[in-house]
Amino acid sequence: MRITQDLDEIRTKLAVTMMPHELDQAMPVIEEIQHLKEQKNAVVLGHNYMTPDVFHGVSDFVGDSLGLARLAGETTADIILFNGVHFMAETAKIINPNRKVLIADLEAGCSLAESITGADVRELKKKYPGVPVVTYVNCSAEVKAETDVCCTSANALQVVESVEGDTVIFLPDEYLARNIQQQTKKKIISWEQGKCIVHELYTADDIADARRHFDDLLVISHPECDTDVTGASDFSGSTSQMEGFIAKSDRKNIMLVTECSMGDNLRSRFPDRHFISTCQSCPHMKKITLVKVRDALLKEQFEVDVPEHIRVPAKKAVDRMLAIG
Ligand code: 13P
Ligand code: SF4
Repeated sequence: MRITQDLDEIRTKLAVTMMPHELDQAMPVIEEIQHLKEQKNAVVLGHNYMTPDVFHGVSDFVGDSLGLARLAGETTADIILFNGVHFMAETAKIINPNRKVLIADLEAGCSLAESITGADVRELKKKYPGVPVVTYVNCSAEVKAETDVCCTSANALQVVESVEGDTVIFLPDEYLARNIQQQTKKKIISWEQGKCIVHELYTADDIADARRHFDDLLVISHPECDTDVTGASDFSGSTSQMEGFIAKSDRKNIMLVTECSMGDNLRSRFPDRHFISTCQSCPHMKKITLVKVRDALLKEQFEVDVPEHIRVPAKKAVDRMLAIG
């Protein structure tokens, strides 16, 4: 989704979730970043889990992993500054190697991506010869390079259904694998070590508690949660699919079972709704701050690169995903 760059509109949106003194500090930095983007012909992509100042303040486009990967492939800007986590910036570089891809903090990782290596995938392929490997994009380029096709939470079921045979190796998110297993006849071989440190914290009891307190509550969860949580929800989908579901619903009370900033960002888009967030925060996403974004553009740091022998096979897996939808 393309978002507004008018400073007055930005201030109005941010005033929904920021204190006046925070806004006074943020606005000059936002203005500086807007100028830097123009000077350097840079496009700024922002994941739905960015804090509102980064999300509404400086992003040219916002969205989920799938939407942002598509945008990264289409841009003609000289610089792509990816405000999200490292695997997302790496995916942008895999797709669009001729652009300079930056991330404001190289330490912005992901517990899922850290749970598995290329060597682990090679071992699994030896153990299950001929079984297709689907990997969730929340993994390193090295893991993608060992993969037949990637997926995101927006298209995981479609991708699993698209591969040949009745068995699929699905890596690295154990809970996403369990959620997909409930929707497909194929047998899924998963990776027990892979969990999102944010979504694994939610329980079905959190939802039952909230339902007792709010009438007519709409519960929306991310499929990185375990199946008892998604089962107790009214809808489960990628971060952008969550937003789309809310737009179509007229329910007032909405519980978001996902990362904290998602609710903050949606409060500006849907000011008439009441968002109940249990608010678990992703420490990796939160490494990306407004000041670091400014410094990243100013100093053109930190560049994300992927060696060609990894990028080329990884791109095949990402391209296959993008072709599926
Ligand atoms: P989305 O693809 O749904 O935006 O999710 C990415 C992610 O890291 C969720 O934790
Ligand atoms: Fe990774 Fe979970 Fe953070 Fe998403 S929320 S980046 S899956 S640790």
